[in-house]
Amino acid sequence: MQKNIVIAIDGYSSCGKSTIARTLAKKLHFIYIDSGAMYRAVTLYFLRKDIALDDHDAIVSALADIHLNFHSRDYQSHITLNDEEVSEEIRQMPVSQLVSDVSAIREVRVEMVRQQQRMGRSKNIIMDGRDIGTVVFPNADLKLFMTADPKIRAERRFKELMLKGEQVTMEEIFENIAHRDFLDTTREESPLVRADDAIILDNTTIDQEQQLAFVLGYVTPLLLKEAN
Ligand code: DC
Repeated sequence: MQKNIVIAIDGYSSCGKSTIARTLAKKLHFIYIDSGAMYRAVTLYFLRKDIALDDHDAIVSALADIHLNFHSRDYQSHITLNDEEVSEEIRQMPVSQLVSDVSAIREVRVEMVRQQQRMGRSKNIIMDGRDIGTVVFPNADLKLFMTADPKIRAERRFKELMLKGEQVTMEEIFENIAHRDFLDTTREESPLVRADDAIILDNTTIDQEQQLAFVLGYVTPLLLKEAN
């Protein structure tokens, strides 16, 4: 039996990881898994249930009550939290403001990593996040590490949220991105770091087509190798 292929994409917030991951998944017919959406859904649950982030017992028991599932429609990943579609709500500011704190909690990470590893056991997948190439799939077939100028990232995110009609300022977005970068890279549990064997993709000045061409330059030989 042929081995399944795992592509890991890590990087900073709002770097376009999910855009490239989705485009690649569509092109290669791989399954796309947005691991950030899982941390966001857990955050939403904690917010709704008013769970204090230092209440270890409440967190452990909440994790046992949280059931996450992905449903792929046209390579957009839709996530359900206990059978409720929450894909839109997890992108809103209350979740964005708390998700880095939630994703720094050890028990939360252990459970999410366990679920993510199960998803990548037998299928060809592309998963994006912060620790995919370092912790979740250290033996991934291809690892990408994405980065871009924080100002450009904030501008892109601002445009996205404006189109959705959200009332936010550019300053709020920039602050949120800077804060999340800080928390993601300095937390004790699986901080965001580039795996030694990850390929850097800086998209500050390149468009989506150029990014895809760059990545396909690495993916194509991999597919050919696996096919032989
Ligand atoms: O990719 P995103 O912005 O949707 O991720 C939301 C948060 O979840 C982000 O602050 C970092 C965290 N995260 C993580 O710690 N590990 C992952 N594998 C994915 C996301």
